[in-house]
Amino acid sequence: MATTRHPFSSRSLRFGVLIATLSCIATGLVFWFQVNGEHRQGLDDLTRRAQLLGHRITPMARMALDRDDSRVAEVVGDRFDGHSRLLGMALYRPDGSRIASGQGVFEFAGSVEDSVRQGLAAKAEFSDLRRDATGSTHVLVQPITDEKGDLKGAIVVLHDALYLEDRLTRGILRGMLWSLGIAAAMFFITTGLAWTFFERPLHLLAEWMRRLRFGNTPELPPRGLPVSKLADETVHLAASFRAARSKERDEAQEIVRSDKAWTRDRLRAHAIDALGGQSLVVVSNREPYMHQMRDGKPVLVRPASGLVTGLDPVLRATGGLWVAHGAGDADRQTADASGCIPVPPEDARYTLKRVWITKEEEQGYYYGFSNEGLWPLCHLTHERPTFRAGDWEQYVRANQRFANAVLEEIGSEKAVVMVQDYQLALVPGMLKAKRPDLRVGLFWHIPWPNAEAFRICPYRVELLQGMLGADLLGFHLQQHCNNFLDTVDRMVEAKLDWDRFSVEIKGRRCLVRPFPISVQPWSERGVAAPAALESQMALLRQQHQLDGFMVGVGVDRIDYTKGIAERFRAIERLFEKYPELQGKFTFVQLGAPSRVHIPRYRDLVTDLEQLADAINWKFVDTGGAAGSGWKPIHFLVDHHEGPAVYAFLKMASVCIVSSLHDGMNLVAKEYVAAKAEGSNEGVEADGAPEGVLVLSEFAGAARDLPEALIINPYDTEEFAAAIHQAITMDAKERRQRMTRMRLRIEEFNIYRWAADFLSTLAQTEHKAQPGTAVDNSGL
Ligand code: F6P
Repeated sequence: MATTRHPFSSRSLRFGVLIATLSCIATGLVFWFQVNGEHRQGLDDLTRRAQLLGHRITPMARMALDRDDSRVAEVVGDRFDGHSRLLGMALYRPDGSRIASGQGVFEFAGSVEDSVRQGLAAKAEFSDLRRDATGSTHVLVQPITDEKGDLKGAIVVLHDALYLEDRLTRGILRGMLWSLGIAAAMFFITTGLAWTFFERPLHLLAEWMRRLRFGNTPELPPRGLPVSKLADETVHLAASFRAARSKERDEAQEIVRSDKAWTRDRLRAHAIDALGGQSLVVVSNREPYMHQMRDGKPVLVRPASGLVTGLDPVLRATGGLWVAHGAGDADRQTADASGCIPVPPEDARYTLKRVWITKEEEQGYYYGFSNEGLWPLCHLTHERPTFRAGDWEQYVRANQRFANAVLEEIGSEKAVVMVQDYQLALVPGMLKAKRPDLRVGLFWHIPWPNAEAFRICPYRVELLQGMLGADLLGFHLQQHCNNFLDTVDRMVEAKLDWDRFSVEIKGRRCLVRPFPISVQPWSERGVAAPAALESQMALLRQQHQLDGFMVGVGVDRIDYTKGIAERFRAIERLFEKYPELQGKFTFVQLGAPSRVHIPRYRDLVTDLEQLADAINWKFVDTGGAAGSGWKPIHFLVDHHEGPAVYAFLKMASVCIVSSLHDGMNLVAKEYVAAKAEGSNEGVEADGAPEGVLVLSEFAGAARDLPEALIINPYDTEEFAAAIHQAITMDAKERRQRMTRMRLRIEEFNIYRWAADFLSTLAQTEHKAQPGTAVDNSGL
């Protein structure tokens, strides 16, 4: 899968064009020299003829020059008149005055004056070709001298040379026609040969290799490969590949049978089984690896996204294809012609295919409909959703682009497609409209509101129908599944089965199930080892003046759903209620700017900065801790890479997640995963403090982590008290709570999540009837 496709025989065409151009230039040059030579020869003939005439008339001209001008005519008579191509002759004195000329010369006399003057000045024979609007004239000037060699005058012979010009033009045209004819012939011959003997066999080979990966390819590679060594090597390669795959399958079954913890290898083994030889395709708006231009160079950036945190380790384990929007300004130049790039770049495990969308589409689809419409619609945070008809059109168009990109990459192969999130709600329906045989899952990473809240969406029916194109629809929580089924029940004509939690629509069934997403162990993410981590933490403490203080941490995209303002207010209240904590506890908020083209998000950054400043001002001024470098809140607005986030999580004694509404919130789980077993009271083996998690009851994670201190972020008093409890909790309780949470996260990690989703998807009742899917493509 994810092959780089070129239009039919494009390389052969390019080769044909190159050869045709070269032969056109070569033939053109040959013709040019030939025609030019003929022209020069014609001119030489004309000059010789004029010389002959001049010489023949010289004795008589000498006599005429000895006479007065008035008597010259008596000597020359009509002998200077021309006929046919000879226009005529003329006789000049050394001073350039014309004393006799034929009738035909009058018309050209003015235009040949220059040539005559040059011939007289040089006292030597001189020929010239004069062109003007009436045609082309050949001029020969022959000086006449006396016995002592003194100049007496000059004979000028004029010929009409238009026929030479005509011959030249005809010659050039003939040359051009021949060159084009030969170029066309060369084009067809070379393109045909290159396609037949090189490109087509290589295309067949590539296709054969692709099929080999899917396991349904004939034993032998295609015949007629341009290099026989290539054919031999291909046969060996195929044999080793088959042997490796069958060994891998045996090992996979062995691993799945043995009841081990869920690891990358176990997921890989499980996926091989669940996918039954089909490829896995993930499709999402956000890409896992983005290239941004910094100082004129493309730099790799890992976007701050729960979706990416969750899905990247899965694809690293299973391999396959991830189709996502190429949003980085250096994305195009780092991908190949079809937008594909192997990732992770330093250790390629799967293919990322970047989808290009226009700025208008991005504005309407991503910023508009997805994030000003669906996002506030699904998050109950009292933010008014905005729906615009134009945004909806772009949403449909962009969804179709993603669906097309998937279909294009899959070709005619079977595949299992995992569509991600609210930005791509129509993609399942669009995929099924074209390929009802595909197995399609959709995972919704954000909450699903109750039916009453959802019904304000003007495009509710289309959205629901698009989603129901999936065979399996996953949410984080059972409550979201309940809300979804209730919504479908009220808004779409479909048969609901509340016992099996499924929807039957247009002859197809869509299962609806909760799959609480989780995280990957930090140890697999290339974070610093204990010794290096200690120095990294020391450096961060020093950089941000955190030395000597107990640290609390929050890590979020800057989004109004995350309850960051509520968190700051709770911290303010904490220091008001418990002034003894001033100068002792400090809170670090890592905030990644997000969706900043939406005014609400842009303003939020400023509002939060002002709020943090106001709180800091209040306490640093009055708390008596001025001078120690202490302040209540460090608001670090930036994109923070994984290793830095890890160091802050490790350093923090308290982590606060205060979402006003959140599908899951992986930061809560990341914090727990970062905290290892304590070796002595209150301190981990690597020198980091043990930690306490303060967690909003409105984040999905609260269901999986009940040992956290659960708070209502809207209740500032309760929230501040919980932070205080976290700071003052005794070591035993801290360890007990954290151990329970950690064991649960270790057991229900991201690999288990993916394995559950894939096996449920593989087991869905699968009716591949053409034409039964919902088609939004024409919207
Ligand atoms: O978790 C919800 C979500 O929308 C994910 O789809 C995404 O990973 C994350 O928020 C970040 O949002 P965005 O992709 O708009 O930066």
